[in-house]
Amino acid sequence: MDSTNEVAKAVLAEGAAPWTVVVAEKQVEGKGRFGRRWASPRGGLYLSVILQEDLSRLPIISLVGGLAVVDALRALGVEATLKWPNDVLVGRAKVAGVLAEGVVGLEAYWAILGIGINSDFALDALPRRIRLETTTLRQELGKRIDNDALLETVLESLREDYPAVGAEKRAIARYREMCSTLGKNVTVETATGVVEGRASGVNDSGFLLVETKKGYVVEVADGSIQREG
Ligand code: BTN
Repeated sequence: MDSTNEVAKAVLAEGAAPWTVVVAEKQVEGKGRFGRRWASPRGGLYLSVILQEDLSRLPIISLVGGLAVVDALRALGVEATLKWPNDVLVGRAKVAGVLAEGVVGLEAYWAILGIGINSDFALDALPRRIRLETTTLRQELGKRIDNDALLETVLESLREDYPAVGAEKRAIARYREMCSTLGKNVTVETATGVVEGRASGVNDSGFLLVETKKGYVVEVADGSIQREG
């Protein structure tokens, strides 16, 4: 496929049921956050889940996507954590990413929850410039990974972690437990500039709280952490 998120949008336009899942063995136009590319060689697991959602819940749903991957990987024995908002790390290396997109339909709002896991390929299948900061499940576990079984585990975790309307606080509380960004000094690139300081929390809306040197707290709704230390 070009991108499972794009195929999911096309499927949705034809009239898909909530929780329809689009899965690819390989993508040639895999999309990352902020218009980046997502390298998607054969052996990775690439999926998009079509969810009927209020657009106001999109930030939370995108965090829950990351949380579900962390839970699935922990069930396999991989000590994964979350780098805010939804990069999945093992140590400092990225093993999975999440791209949630909102779609306004005629009668409802939808969220396309795209998940990419570097699962069953060798690191040299990736572009050289990202190899140092990336890992794969095959590398971490030292064995081949069954992507069909992994897909089932990820979807099970997602169904379990998915918050009912009104139950978002509990999901965020679990997210905080898995978030390795908290307590670190961060440099966050946002649409309106760079924020630097200590990541002191995640609020109930899923925003990152950054305590700056001057002592005030900035609430970052969306951004990309350039440095964590
Ligand atoms: C990121 O970390 O920047 C997000 C990466 C999201 C990649 C997944 S792979 C499945 C889905 N389809 C895409 O084109 N992107 C997401």
